[in-house]
Amino acid sequence: MPTLYDQVLYPNTPFRQTHPDRLASLAILFGMTPPPVPQCRVLEVGCGDGGNLIPMAFEYPGSQFLGVDTGAVSIGAGRREIETLGLSNIRLEQMDLMDAGTDLGTFDYVIAHGFYSWVPEPVRDKFMALTKAILAPQGVAYVSYNVLPGGRIRQMFREMMLFHLRGETEFGASIGGARQMVQWFRASQPQESESSTLIAQVESVMDRTPQVLFHDELNPDYYPVYFQEFAAHAARSGLQFLSEANYFDSQPRTLPADVVAEIEKAAKGDRIVREQYFDFMRCRMFRQTLLCHQEIVLPAAPLPARLEALRASSTVKPVSKKPDLSPGVAEEFRGWKGTGVTAAHPLTKAVMLLLGEAWPQTVRVSDLSAAVSRLTGEPADPEALSQILLSTYAAGVIDLHTQPRQCVAHVSQFPVASELARSQVSRGKCATTALHAMMEAADERICAFIGLLDGTRDLAALVRELAPTSHLPEAELARGIQENLKLLAERGLLIA
Ligand SMILES: C[S@@+](CC[C@H](N)C(=O)[O-])C[C@H]1O[C@@H](n2cnc3c(N)ncnc32)[C@H](O)[C@@H]1O
Repeated sequence: MPTLYDQVLYPNTPFRQTHPDRLASLAILFGMTPPPVPQCRVLEVGCGDGGNLIPMAFEYPGSQFLGVDTGAVSIGAGRREIETLGLSNIRLEQMDLMDAGTDLGTFDYVIAHGFYSWVPEPVRDKFMALTKAILAPQGVAYVSYNVLPGGRIRQMFREMMLFHLRGETEFGASIGGARQMVQWFRASQPQESESSTLIAQVESVMDRTPQVLFHDELNPDYYPVYFQEFAAHAARSGLQFLSEANYFDSQPRTLPADVVAEIEKAAKGDRIVREQYFDFMRCRMFRQTLLCHQEIVLPAAPLPARLEALRASSTVKPVSKKPDLSPGVAEEFRGWKGTGVTAAHPLTKAVMLLLGEAWPQTVRVSDLSAAVSRLTGEPADPEALSQILLSTYAAGVIDLHTQPRQCVAHVSQFPVASELARSQVSRGKCATTALHAMMEAADERICAFIGLLDGTRDLAALVRELAPTSHLPEAELARGIQENLKLLAERGLLIA
C-alpha cells in the first residue's frame, strides 16, 4: 500500500552528522575501537531514496551499505541512482522495519535520521531492539529525534496548524492552510515579541520546504521525548548514550558559569542528568545522539591520548592578513556559521593558522605537533596541543576525523570536480561535497560550470567555453571563474 511518503516525496539529502567518519571519531575519543570507515558495514533505517547513503557508498567502495524504507517510490528512485552511478556496494530494500530481523546481518554503524520521532511506539521499540541485536560490539548508532521541552513549542504550532486544517490531508491545501495559520499568529504578536522563541519557530515553519513541512510538522505520528526518556529507552534495550553527533552540542558553551557549576553539582557526575538540565536551560528541540552497547565502559569525558589517532580540520581563517604568533598578542580567527576564536597563546594561533590553511583537508594530529613547533619556533608540547584541540572541538571551532577528505585545498591548473558531483549535476541534481553536504546555493550556472571541471580545461579554456553565454567582458568573466573555483575548492568539491 502506498505510504504518505510515496504520495509526497521527502527530499533526502546528505547529512554530515550521520557520516560514519564522525561516528567513528567520537567513538575513538571515548576510548572505543570502532571498525575502520573504509571497510565497514552501514545500515540506514528510513533511508528514503538514499540521498544520504549513496554518496557514502560512492566515497567508500570498500564498505557495504544497506538502506531500508517502506516507501516504494523513494526506494525505486534510489535504486535507479545506484545503477546510474554503477555502485555495487549498496542495496536499498523496500521494507517495514517491523518485518526486519537479524538476518539483515551485523552493522558497524546504524543511522536513523528523522525517523524515531515520526513512527509509533512499536516501531520505536523495534528500532532499539533491532539496533541492539545487529550492532557490532564496537559499533555506533546515530539517532536524531525531537526533544522536550523545546518540542512543546513546535507541538503548539503543529496543533494550531492541524486545528486549522480540520482533517484536510491533501498536500497543496494542507501547506496553504498551515502557512496561513502561522502567518495569522505572526501578525497577531505585539512588536516587542520580535525576538521571542515563538517568532523564531514561526520563521522556522515558514522556511521549511512544503514537503518537509508536510511530513515533519503535520505527520499523524509525532512523538517528542525528554532526553532522559530517550536514554532510558536505549538502556532498556541494552544500549547507552555515547555522545551527541555534534560534540559541541552537549557542552555548556554560552550557559552562565555559575548555573553550569550548580548543574554539575546537581548531576553528581551523571552525564544523562547533566545533559537533561542543559536541554531545559536551552529549551532544546532536537537531538542527534550516538549510542553504543551498554557493556562498554565509557570514560566521563573524551580521552586526550586518543587524539593521536585522529585528524583535525577547521574552517577558520585569521582576520588580520599577517597574524602575529608572538605570545600575548591577541589574534582573531573566524570560521563558518559564526564559529571562531580569539587567542593570544602562540600554540593556539599556530594550530588555527595551520588548520585554516589546510581546509577543507584534514591534518593528522600526530603531524600537527611538529608543524606547530616549526611555526612557533618553540619545542613541541603534545599535552598543551591536546588541550587546545579538545577545547576548540568542544567550542565547535574544529572538527575531528579518522580519514582524510577526498578533495584539494587549492585550485590547480586543470581543476577536477568529483566524479559524483559531475554526475549529479549532469542529471539536474545538487552536488554532494567531500564534506558530505549538499553544495549550497547551487544555481543552474554553477551546476553547468561544475560539469566542465573534468581536468581537461584550464582557465583560458573555461573562459572560451563560457564566453558565448556570458554578458561579461572576458577579463571579468575570468575573475568570476577564478572566484567560483576558489569557492568550489573551499566547499570540498575539487578533487584535483
Ligand atoms: C521524515 S522521513 C526521513 C527520511 C530521511 N532519513 C531524511 O532524514 O531525509 C522518514 C522516513 O522513514 C520511513 N519510514 C517510516 N516508517 C517506517 C518503517 N516502519 N519502516 C521503514 N521505514 C519507515 C519513511 O518512508 C520516510 O522515508
